[in-house]
Amino acid sequence: MKAKCANCQKIYDIPDERLPQGKKVKLPCPSCKNPIELDLRSNGADQASSDSASSSSPAAEKEQATGDELKEQIFKSVKDLPPMPQVIHKARKVMASPNSSFKDLAIIFVTDQAIATRVLKLSNSAYYGLSKKVSSIQQASVILGHKTLAELITMVSTSTLLCNKLKGYGLEAGQLWEHSMAVAFGSRFIAQKKYPEFADDAFAAGLIHDSGKLALDKYIFERHEIFEQFMANGGKTFLDAEKEILGFDHAEIASEVCNKWNVPEELATGIKYHHHPSQIQDNILANLLHAADGIAMMSGLGDGIDSVSYEIEESSVKFLGLNNKEISILMEKVVTTVQNTMQEFK
Ligand SMILES: [Fe+2]
Ligand SMILES: [Fe+2]
Repeated sequence: MKAKCANCQKIYDIPDERLPQGKKVKLPCPSCKNPIELDLRSNGADQASSDSASSSSPAAEKEQATGDELKEQIFKSVKDLPPMPQVIHKARKVMASPNSSFKDLAIIFVTDQAIATRVLKLSNSAYYGLSKKVSSIQQASVILGHKTLAELITMVSTSTLLCNKLKGYGLEAGQLWEHSMAVAFGSRFIAQKKYPEFADDAFAAGLIHDSGKLALDKYIFERHEIFEQFMANGGKTFLDAEKEILGFDHAEIASEVCNKWNVPEELATGIKYHHHPSQIQDNILANLLHAADGIAMMSGLGDGIDSVSYEIEESSVKFLGLNNKEISILMEKVVTTVQNTMQEFK
């Protein structure tokens, strides 16, 4: 059977015995990776068609996009993501200013009672180790300090951005949030030991390190068969699949998301290289995020199909000066902290 790719116009001669008869199938074009759709049902068996020939639905048209065109489409779609809640910007200002006070934070609670309730619940979680429960935000501010309180606000507000189901990545509702918390706490724990001045940035960047997935998910889902085939052909990671099929990975698109959310540049750079810290010279944040990401995945707090074949770069382990014992202690600590925190979120 002859099959023509609508995108690159290449024609392939596929032996009939290699095709499942009586079905409609999609195969990735070996040249440009665009899906080629073949209708092998009896009424369509004679026609070897590419995507555009077999369908003119908007979804099919979207699937035709590839290379630069697809990249442009995805970059544009970043603007449709929900905005970073304003409260996070306010909280960040408070964290950055040693002279800020409870009054600076109070306005947040006046406008958002739901955040106040969750923050209060979290203040009482085991992680913050209070000897007696706090019953008001003001009390929490006095005992925990407004910096910690601002961090709790950031954590609660970010959860609204990351708690949805991501079908393309095979993530149930809440799973990306759980993984993001694991990376936030993990990065902070490593930073506290190795680079204490980076602890706050590491936590904040960890919370949103995989935000690029929010932008890519729908495009991956539209191409899920191509992704499945790519993975079934063995040996490669899902990150490689993103790169080969879409032309770039979720860490690269995260820079665009960070831009939209006005995330400081040093955090955005660390996030951009969180899978390949060796590609950027001695970037502390990228190394912290990368190691914490690996620790989260090894601890079972991964993120769906993305965790398959994930490994911490040897150079990163060396850069951070981590040994195996420290890594297993960190794994345990991250699991306990995330479990306790998630409980307060229910
Ligand atoms: Fe990632
Ligand atoms: Fe991750």
